[in-house]
Amino acid sequence: MNALLLAGGLGTRLRPLTENLPKPMALVANRPWLEHLIIHMKRQGMDRFVIAVKHYSELIRHYFGDGRKWGVHIEYAVEDTPRGTAGAIKNAEALLDDRFIVVNADIIHEIDLPKLVEFHLQHGGGVTIGLTEVEDPTQYGVVNQDMSGRILCFVEKPRLEEAPSRRINAGIYVMEKEVLRYIPDHREVSIERETFPLLIEQEVGIYGQVISGYWADMGTKDRYRKIHWDILNRHLRLGIPGRETGSGIWMGERCRIGKGVLFVPPVLIGDGVQIGDRSVIGPFAVIGDDCKIGSSVRCSETIMWNRCMVNDATQLKNCIFGYDLELGSKQILHEAVVNRTDVMQA
Ligand code: GTP
Repeated sequence: MNALLLAGGLGTRLRPLTENLPKPMALVANRPWLEHLIIHMKRQGMDRFVIAVKHYSELIRHYFGDGRKWGVHIEYAVEDTPRGTAGAIKNAEALLDDRFIVVNADIIHEIDLPKLVEFHLQHGGGVTIGLTEVEDPTQYGVVNQDMSGRILCFVEKPRLEEAPSRRINAGIYVMEKEVLRYIPDHREVSIERETFPLLIEQEVGIYGQVISGYWADMGTKDRYRKIHWDILNRHLRLGIPGRETGSGIWMGERCRIGKGVLFVPPVLIGDGVQIGDRSVIGPFAVIGDDCKIGSSVRCSETIMWNRCMVNDATQLKNCIFGYDLELGSKQILHEAVVNRTDVMQA
């Protein structure tokens, strides 16, 4: 069984960060999410991957190559035009095993894969959908299941009193290859809107199982920020690079910290970071590798990717900065989300 990671979407809701970057390559705690995902899945026994790519596909291919640096084998299914979440699976058909796992590569989770596969083998149907429970089901496609876990239908954006459950598609599936014959070739196909309803109609046996543990979709800027605060608050147990030097203060290698710098936890400082005298960093700051922060800077609730430069006496709150940005001195920025127009990478 191999795993297909869907990483070719345009990520429009996370622009401008995804203007020139595939969304799964967005840094999460100073490392591309796709890398966390591959490491996590490898720990669960998965070592053969296909990545379905389109938008800035070369950045993913350049970063991961054949995967040997991570002790895994990676192949790529490249789309000439965007195929959507089911069309991308169809496009990768030749590279997939008879039974395979599909993961939306923009979902942040700690899934127990063996448990999902075990359930799939028990029911013997064509597809198992990992489900997650949400507080408010009214904005999602909610599943209606029978006692065995078989999905009878999806109810789109139900009113609260009419929702059959609070369970929604978590973007993680186990699939039998034979169901791919229901997906048309060479066009955009949505798995949620087209393929799953068709597979239910065709009675191929679609089952759902709730996955336990953390689950979040990094699709919007608010959620992208919240995922970071959840990591710093340890609600999500992700491998945080760096050493914890005080409670909630993670510090990378080779950092140069000036006099009178105050860290207000939780904060994560990458490798090679320089911070000038009397700056106050945190609470909730994630500073990427090789960033240079001037003196008397205040930086809270802010995520900064690698190699940014922040000049003296600038104040940052609730901001997200892409790679290689330079921020002038004595500026006050609140809720800014900034990226460069040229292509940069980790
Ligand atoms: P938005 O434009 O903000 O909705 O983001 P998106 O384009 O990434 O779409 P969505 O969040 O629905 O995608 C879910 C997952 O499927 C993400 O990991 C996407 O990268 C991936 N995906 C979506 N569309 C395609 C596609 O056409 N091809 C491939 N290979 N992956 C896709």
